[in-house]
Amino acid sequence: GKGAAMVTAVAYRLAEQSRHIAETLAEFRLTTEQLLEVRKDATVKMLPTFVRSTPDGSEHGDFLALDLGGTNFRVLLVKIRSGKRRTVEMHNKIYAIPLEVMQGTGEELFDHIVQCISDFLDYMGMKNARLPLGFTFSFPCRQTSLDAGILVTWTKGFKATDCEGEDVVGLLREAIKRREFDLDVVAIVNDTVGTMMTCAYEESTCEIGLIAGTGSNACYMEEMKNIEMIDDDEGRMCVNMEWGAFGDNGCLDDIRTEYDRAVDDFSLNPGKQRYEKMCSGMYLGEIVRNILIDMTKRGFLFRGQISETLKTRGIFETKFLSQIESDRLALLQVRSILQHLGLDSTCDDSIIVKEVCGAVSRRAAQLCGAGMAAVVDKIRENRGLDRLNVTVGVDGTLYKLHPHFSRIMHQTVNELAPQCNVNFLLSEDGSGKGAALITAVGCRLRQELNG
Ligand code: GLC
Repeated sequence: GKGAAMVTAVAYRLAEQSRHIAETLAEFRLTTEQLLEVRKDATVKMLPTFVRSTPDGSEHGDFLALDLGGTNFRVLLVKIRSGKRRTVEMHNKIYAIPLEVMQGTGEELFDHIVQCISDFLDYMGMKNARLPLGFTFSFPCRQTSLDAGILVTWTKGFKATDCEGEDVVGLLREAIKRREFDLDVVAIVNDTVGTMMTCAYEESTCEIGLIAGTGSNACYMEEMKNIEMIDDDEGRMCVNMEWGAFGDNGCLDDIRTEYDRAVDDFSLNPGKQRYEKMCSGMYLGEIVRNILIDMTKRGFLFRGQISETLKTRGIFETKFLSQIESDRLALLQVRSILQHLGLDSTCDDSIIVKEVCGAVSRRAAQLCGAGMAAVVDKIRENRGLDRLNVTVGVDGTLYKLHPHFSRIMHQTVNELAPQCNVNFLLSEDGSGKGAALITAVGCRLRQELNG
């Protein structure tokens, strides 16, 4: 009768639901073959950084550092003491960069930065000290020296006008002039490089820097003879890989899903930073949100109701994904996180949401691991070694906060680069300390040049 027909309909619906969910999540499961392809296929920018060695412990002095391009904008004072008792003392202040400044004019952005430096100097009571400054600027730059870098393109959430194609140190110096005070900008530093330098200060085997945070990127010490943009063939130089742009030539298209394409299409930089959009904190939540919208549209989630919250871009920040995926959390707590985000869920909903998050972050960690496997194996081959021991300095909210990302990434590196022993070292405040260390070296070189 009617009842039996209804039961059949419900059963049919449930089967359809679990089939659809399984199929969707299967698209995020990468095979070893696919990961090996990613490892093999690494054509990236390879920007020289003019950092030619890791620290040797003789660096010393007081420095200012700026950190722009991560979760927070910060100004720092870093005091480095060398000798028998090496110490690094840091003071820092976090400043907000309003969205309209991130995406306004370049002049507004740099005026704001200088305003923050000025406030910081007041706050520290050192308005008149002319300290050397290291600028951690976490975007792709074409450097021609330690203190000159042309912004290739904005990435992540930034889009200020009149900056691309310009020397960023020049833009900063002009803004300093406009306020009629004086600062000595010595170095421009990518966050990956600062991270590598910070870890190398403690651990001499560190020759790689990795950021798994808002964005995703790595740098490593490359042989000078392999760096085409510079004629000198002696020694090594750190290169910024800008691996976030990997896949922009289409080589990741086979593994990108419709959700990845949707996230890309609605981003500030469509078609660019495709690998970054599959691996980094700024985008993972967006992938999850797009999957949830699709499942809701099909009536498999949230009772088929797409709420205003679910339509809001950026709701699933890294910290929420991390909480949802925490093993210690009962489903009820997952539901309360969703509730907090404004999403009314049933118990079944919360199970599905957690599965979706797991599939997306797992793929991110594996992709990041495949990239890292390519880097360590490249260094090993450069040096003609059968085995390589190497340390990677790491920073970034995804790596630090997420309950599974780091473990899965480490596992993937071990599987895909079996001839390397890779040790990961968490960098404490890499961008600030590293910029200061690089600035110290820059000051020393300048003194040597001047006699
Ligand atoms: C983006 C930037 C890159 C930076 C990374 C991590 O990929 O282009 O320069 O290192 O984010 O912050």
